[in-house]
Amino acid sequence: MSEQGQTLLQHIILIGFMGCGKSTIGRELQVLLNIPLIDTDEEIEKLAGKSIAEIFAEQGEDSFRDIETKFLQSCAINLTSPSIISTGGGAILREENRLILQHLGYVVWLKLDAHAVYMRTRNSRNRPILQQPNPRKIIADLLERRTPLYRDCAHLVIDIVGLDRHEITTGIIESARYYFSQLPP
Ligand code: S3P
Repeated sequence: MSEQGQTLLQHIILIGFMGCGKSTIGRELQVLLNIPLIDTDEEIEKLAGKSIAEIFAEQGEDSFRDIETKFLQSCAINLTSPSIISTGGGAILREENRLILQHLGYVVWLKLDAHAVYMRTRNSRNRPILQQPNPRKIIADLLERRTPLYRDCAHLVIDIVGLDRHEITTGIIESARYYFSQLPP
């Protein structure tokens, strides 16, 4: 039983700032564990029938956040078999979302510093939050604001600088197995 007194669902949830590799690591875990991968941004795009950039431009960020929360709520209800859930970088912003993520299973924060985030996202055109002058400052400010929220939500923190994909996925799988094995029946 989780702290909320409900059965904890045994999913692995990846959180972390834009560019930290949640989708890539999610795909790798999907293959290694042979379980479904749910990419929340992709699911939101399917539900809305438009890209994240279009949702931001036409409806605004608050509307995107509402869809994101609704989708996470639906995961808690509908996702019954173990899955990997790769979230958008801002999914931890709302307390309600953080509680849902923790309820869903084992939350892993792929941690990256601001410089590494900038280097990995500087050529990306599909992240509306970074399509502004001075993305370095935006990244530094957002990362500072979000760091306590990632920390608050995560069961496991992996500082991914210097680690290859194999090391990251092996660490996640071993830690998740241990975590799930310690849960009361
Ligand atoms: C966002 C991150 C994006 C996407 C949206 C907002 C954020 O996901 O959800 O553009 O606020 O950090 P990625 O982290 O997969 O890029």
